[in-house]
Amino acid sequence: MFANAALVLGLAATVASHCTRPQLVEAVDSYLATQTSGKTAAFKARFDNSTWLGYYENAKKIDVDTGILNKPLAITHNRSLYDTTSCATYTEVIVNSTTDPYVIGTQLRFANHKINKVDMIVTKPGDWLFNITGYAYWVTQENWGTIPEEQRDTRDTIKKAADAYCDLFNNPNVTVPWGKPCVRLEGGLYGDPGPNGTCAGGVPSGVPLRNRRYVIDETVGAVDVMLDFGNSGWPDSHEFRIENGKIRYVHTMTHCGIPNCGLRFQRFD
Ligand SMILES: *[C@@H]1O[C@H](CO)[C@@H](O)[C@H](O)[C@H]1NC(C)=O
Ligand SMILES: *[C@@H]1O[C@H](CO)[C@@H](O)[C@H](O)[C@H]1NC(C)=O
Ligand SMILES: *[C@@H]1O[C@H](CO)[C@@H](O)[C@H](O)[C@H]1NC(C)=O
Ligand SMILES: *[C@@H]1O[C@H](CO)[C@@H](O)[C@H](O)[C@H]1NC(C)=O
Ligand SMILES: *[C@@H]1O[C@H](CO)[C@@H](O)[C@H](O)[C@H]1NC(C)=O
Ligand SMILES: *[C@@H]1O[C@H](CO)[C@@H](O)[C@H](O)[C@H]1NC(C)=O
Repeated sequence: MFANAALVLGLAATVASHCTRPQLVEAVDSYLATQTSGKTAAFKARFDNSTWLGYYENAKKIDVDTGILNKPLAITHNRSLYDTTSCATYTEVIVNSTTDPYVIGTQLRFANHKINKVDMIVTKPGDWLFNITGYAYWVTQENWGTIPEEQRDTRDTIKKAADAYCDLFNNPNVTVPWGKPCVRLEGGLYGDPGPNGTCAGGVPSGVPLRNRRYVIDETVGAVDVMLDFGNSGWPDSHEFRIENGKIRYVHTMTHCGIPNCGLRFQRFD
């Protein structure tokens, strides 16, 4: 009797902590269908209300019924990371519209095979270097495809590369594994995509990147880090593609609540 109960509990714990790629893919499909239709009922039915951590847009916890998910958007691009270790996903969404464009980053977190946190960065005209034409174009020029198994970096290598980049903003002594080339897509502004492209230019100092939330997918060598940018704590997403331990691409979205973060045009991150 006691042994049986222990066995049942053990099994339950195993099942709860394990999530599969197909399950995560299905949840992201549901997220995308929801954002496309603006109808949230089926998505909300996937919430784990017993462990619920909240629905966030630009680092503000709000009621899902008042969120962007209720607005039908014609998504023109999406690409996702699936983290089967942390049971989490990240999706990059572009709405390439001339009248009402968006670039959105969405992290979903799971418990008991259900969604228990929705964490979004929602950017539109006025946000840091926002340029929908640039964003929509440049993502089509990059390769974020599956990396052959024998060439994959470990989870630890991928995370350390992203952390080195994020740490550099507050510590110039950090060694970052820069790829050659490395190119950054920042709101819509693109770096040098040529063979000499570098992401090392224009990194400021004294800018802490805090409260990092990671989604790591070794199959594509990528990690998304949502964070509070700088001392103002701007809601931000930095997504990295790592190849052979080195940073190949960086995508950033930053929401500041004031046009272009109150700054004149300058290379900033
Ligand atoms: C969780 O609560 C929301 C209301 O906030 C409800 O719409 C949804 O159906 C609930 N989900 C489940 C799985 O019970
Ligand atoms: C998301 O992207 C995939 C291709 O990567 C595409 O098949 C699918 O239709 C897209 N979904 C939406 C809602 O645009
Ligand atoms: C937006 O990006 C496109 C493509 O890179 C570029 O041609 C255009 O000049 C940019 N617009 C602004 C306002 O920077
Ligand atoms: C984005 O939309 C603009 C305006 O409709 C269009 O010219 C451009 O080709 C689109 N970009 C992509 C990558 O589809
Ligand atoms: C970076 O290195 C210099 C020279 O060794 C040192 O003076 C400085 O304190 C270091 N900065 C940090 C943030 O560790
Ligand atoms: C890249 O840098 C090398 C060495 O400085 C230089 O010879 C080459 O012309 C550069 N290539 C481009 C496309 O700028």
